[in-house]
Amino acid sequence: MEVINSVSTLKAKVSAFRKDNKQIGLVPTMGALHNGHASLVSRSVKENDVTIVSVFVNPTQFNDKNDLEKYPRTLEADCALLEGIGATLVFAPTVEEIYPEPDTRSFSYAPTDSVMEGAFRPGHFNGVCQIVSKLFMFVEPDKAYFGEKDFQQIAVIKAMVADYRSQNAEWAKRLTICPCPIVRENDGLALSSRNTLLTAAERAIAPNIYKALAESVTFSKSHSVEETKAMAVNAINSVNGLEVQYYEIVNADTLQSVTSWDDAEHIQGCITVFCGATPIRLIDNINYK
Ligand code: PAF
Repeated sequence: MEVINSVSTLKAKVSAFRKDNKQIGLVPTMGALHNGHASLVSRSVKENDVTIVSVFVNPTQFNDKNDLEKYPRTLEADCALLEGIGATLVFAPTVEEIYPEPDTRSFSYAPTDSVMEGAFRPGHFNGVCQIVSKLFMFVEPDKAYFGEKDFQQIAVIKAMVADYRSQNAEWAKRLTICPCPIVRENDGLALSSRNTLLTAAERAIAPNIYKALAESVTFSKSHSVEETKAMAVNAINSVNGLEVQYYEIVNADTLQSVTSWDDAEHIQGCITVFCGATPIRLIDNINYK
């Protein structure tokens, strides 16, 4: 497995793979890799001839400077994990390499990117689209893998790819976005790079998020959307140290809130919770139907 830092080397490697008719899988990450990332990379290794993993903490998607500074960076351990899984290439550029000048491109896929995370983290999805579109243009992958913990992110990226496809971008026509299921700890906590920032006491209460979501699915069978939402929020807020920022029960395709279980074929609950005094912002989601 090779680790490279420059865009020009990445492009040269990609064109050599293409010449050899290799199918390319891309797994974009911000590093601090865990078993959730490992599941994406393993799937890509199985489904493609070549797997490229990017490790880049993208500053343009952080609306909070402190959050960017605190974000864990563990490149050496990440590379050891990736080598073990069979990744072909790690692309770990500097900020200057990706943004030699400020990226002034603006992406807007309202209402998909304006609700939930889009409303509470202004500019976040614009930054995600900036980096992900650059990676897609550098690598022109056949498949790109994203974890469903960031449920809304996948919807925004799909909207961005559809937009490029409508503009006839060849890379977008080739590309399939592959969503991958959330990987959880034994106690239900969704794996996240941010979990390493939790104190022992915070880590002990964090599983109550998934516990409430899972219980709300059973509850939903005999209650309305509004009652189910209130049940989950109250259960989480009753735990000392947890505070729900938002909980939305939405049409899984459009991300618009539903008021009845009959409003959509697929319904997802998407939550963000502040955990502890710092606080650490944890996101999770669950499928109702
Ligand atoms: O999901 C993430 O880790 C990031 O948002 C991504 C897709 C790697 C873009 O920086």
